[in-house]
Amino acid sequence: MTGPVLAVDQGTSGTKALVVCPERGVLGTGFAQVGPRHLAGGRVEVDPAALYDSVLAAGRQALAEAGEGVVALGLANQGETVLAWDPATGRPLTDALVWQDRRAASVCAELAAQGEELRQLTGLPLDPYFAAPKMAWIRRNLTREGVVSTSDAWLVHRLTGVHATDAATAGRTQLLDLDRATWSPRALDLYGLTGETLPEVTDCAQVVGTTRAFGPEIPLTGLIVDQQAALLAQRVTAPGTAKCTYGTGAFLLAHTGERPRRGDSGLVSCVAWRLAGTTSYCLDGQVYTAASAVRWLTDLGVLSGAADLDSVGGTVPDSGGVTFVPALAGLAAPWWRGDLRGSLTGLGLDTTPGHLARALCEGIAAQVAELAEAAATDLGAPLDLLRVDGGLTRSALLMQTQADLLQRPVEVSALPDATALGAAALARLGLDPALGVADALPDGKPAAVYEPRIPADQAAERRAGFRTAVAALLGP
Ligand code: G3P
Repeated sequence: MTGPVLAVDQGTSGTKALVVCPERGVLGTGFAQVGPRHLAGGRVEVDPAALYDSVLAAGRQALAEAGEGVVALGLANQGETVLAWDPATGRPLTDALVWQDRRAASVCAELAAQGEELRQLTGLPLDPYFAAPKMAWIRRNLTREGVVSTSDAWLVHRLTGVHATDAATAGRTQLLDLDRATWSPRALDLYGLTGETLPEVTDCAQVVGTTRAFGPEIPLTGLIVDQQAALLAQRVTAPGTAKCTYGTGAFLLAHTGERPRRGDSGLVSCVAWRLAGTTSYCLDGQVYTAASAVRWLTDLGVLSGAADLDSVGGTVPDSGGVTFVPALAGLAAPWWRGDLRGSLTGLGLDTTPGHLARALCEGIAAQVAELAEAAATDLGAPLDLLRVDGGLTRSALLMQTQADLLQRPVEVSALPDATALGAAALARLGLDPALGVADALPDGKPAAVYEPRIPADQAAERRAGFRTAVAALLGP
């Protein structure tokens, strides 16, 4: 069956929806903002109703703009955001703890002795970023009622009445046995979550259920976590290349084939997707604050928004000796020190907003370069290039800085909404399993390519400066 599909990307700060036709491209778009609350003590939460409402609003807007019906729905989700809810009524029992929320650090501290066992079992290091520590924290501190799950399972239940999550999202919990791609009784036991009613783990492309939330009944046929959706849309379907999405955070993923690769470089080893029962794997590294660091500078009045990162940064030739480690929500891979906070050093009376804008670009790009290097080490070969997408790729300053520090070409995707397009591809595959993956994917031609413009020794020197600033945060 052919025809347009509705793809919904439910992200941290908003929901994007596209109506995508295999022949005519994007026919309609919709967007609805979501406002997570940033609270003291590293707490970040969001009203679950706002998530669901944004899915409906963005989806309906895209459909209205397209002016025609769709044959299927694909849904990408933000991954490690967790809530408790009542499976009888669908009513949320708690706020959703957003992936950036740090309050489950206490749960991780208690499990420190089992950290390596959990990493071997699930591919994920012990960190409150992941879903299981948050699930355990909710059970201990908020409610023992209902079910506790990642936000996608709740959204899927609201839309279809089915209790399901896909293998890639399940892989973000630290409860999934990485080799078997099934729930791990041992991990559940360690987290005190044995006996929980868990969602069924589905393929990323299959008929999960049907919904009337957007009008006439349509099947939900694509489910995936957002970073992996972008990986798919960017056609990173074999080892050698990586993608980085610059959204609220920046996330670098490298495909590792059909077997998981547990490296020693501090990256996450997880499920890329499961299609027709076959699981593909990837390495994943995170910069917790990218666009949210830009928002922070904006809130301070240094910038008027992400759009003027380049014009403000362009007022000066370099960062003027300012180094910014934008760890405003802690450091993730490869350091895993979520308890740390960012640092701004080298400030002087002559420091201008331009220097700060450049130092921020340098700080984000230097962290992504560390992640790319870690991926190359684990894969045993350098990455040939980096494919990038997400809102911040509109900053030529950030992209050029990235190519310079990486010493590799950076290919900016022509797809402004790669995540939603990945979900659209899965929705098509779920509807028509005979379709090849490559045939379901959008054209991979980049919109721009940034080549390194500085010599390798200069790049190494700038990265060494950033590492020194990180080392000062990490302490002895
Ligand atoms: O792991 C969290 C990440 O996937 C969220 O992505 O696009 O909502 O910043 P985004």
